[in-house]
Amino acid sequence: MTLYIHIPFCSSRCGYCTFNSFTNSEELYDDYINALILDISNNSCKEPLNSIFFGGGTPNILGIKFYEKIFSAIWKNFTLNHNCEITAEANPNLITQQWCKQMLDLGINRLSLGVQSFFIDKLSYLEREHGKKDIYYALECVQKAGISNISIDLIYDTPFDNPKRLKEEITLAMQLPITHLSAYSLSIEDDSRLKNRGEKESQTPQHKILVETLNNFGFYPYEVSNFVSKNGKKCKHNLAYWQGMDYIGCGAGAVGKLSKKTLRESNYQDINLNHMLAIRLQATKNLKDYIAHPNKRSIEYLNAQDIQLESLFLGLRSEVGVDISLLDSKALKNLEMLKSHNFVEIRNNKIYALDYFLGDELALRLS
Ligand SMILES: C[S@@+](CC[C@H](N)C(=O)[O-])C[C@H]1O[C@@H](n2cnc3c(N)ncnc32)[C@H](O)[C@@H]1O
Ligand code: SF4
Repeated sequence: MTLYIHIPFCSSRCGYCTFNSFTNSEELYDDYINALILDISNNSCKEPLNSIFFGGGTPNILGIKFYEKIFSAIWKNFTLNHNCEITAEANPNLITQQWCKQMLDLGINRLSLGVQSFFIDKLSYLEREHGKKDIYYALECVQKAGISNISIDLIYDTPFDNPKRLKEEITLAMQLPITHLSAYSLSIEDDSRLKNRGEKESQTPQHKILVETLNNFGFYPYEVSNFVSKNGKKCKHNLAYWQGMDYIGCGAGAVGKLSKKTLRESNYQDINLNHMLAIRLQATKNLKDYIAHPNKRSIEYLNAQDIQLESLFLGLRSEVGVDISLLDSKALKNLEMLKSHNFVEIRNNKIYALDYFLGDELALRLS
């Protein structure tokens, strides 16, 4: 089982971001953590955890006393597999060596740092708070604390990216002590400040250059935005999600998915699935509502067709692939065509996209 814990606080709001996150909310930290602890105990599960992911928001905005409480709740309500991957996302500007060391002592063994860019003009376009020096300082803190499984996030396809700059950016990233990198094409979301500023998404995506440059440094994609070095570890949390496995989400706005078997053993056992296969649950996004009702969930029922579509989209944009048995006769005809044009390959009755970037389009052709 996989557990996601949402920390919905940031020190400032980045121009592109529409994640569920709030600034200037320090006075709510104590109440939020108390609510989160109730939420965690209400979602306890017999199946041992393979991964825990603290996402945000900015998890490193919270001091260690809050994590001591969160971990006590986790240990009380879950069993952790001996090789459970425990990731925290972090922002470079707030990180300290002491925080990293204390988190390591609590069990964190993977850190994902939101670098986004090394270039000051691009960072300022994205409305990030940190500069280049903060990135190096943050990495030094993480390393000195003894965390060795380190990933960074980059954003590309901004007006400040061209092939030369992107190659420079990746070259700088490759000098860091990392074995994993997530690179996201900038999406201009409704309600983001970039959108309100009238910014547009790039018409000349640079995914190909990104992949080629990373390949030259020995980093390979296992999903459209995720790359790992030869001796690095793929992110267990992400893989579980792409494989369509069940997961538990705790915290404001957190999403979880439970299928029949897990549902029966959970606190949601009274929910009647009838002919549905699974449910997707979401906690309320509003902080004060969440604090008042941490166990409240909105529920979406998923039928066989929903699950099939999700498997196609997640499988074709990643190395997970798609079971050929999911395809009907019309999709099987399209598959032949896609195979003959070298868009996909078939191994052991599974379909794999040859370019994850085309995953969504291929999924539409096979649905
Ligand atoms: C929750 S944030 C990461 C944690 C941390 N708060 C940070 O920003 O450093 C997850 C990642 O999603 C990516 N992201 C968020 N919004 C995006 C957008 N509109 N377009 C592209 N990438 C985005 C960023 O790379 C970001 O690091
Ligand atoms: S990108 Fe990260 S730091 Fe920026 S607002 Fe979103 S969650 Fe907060």
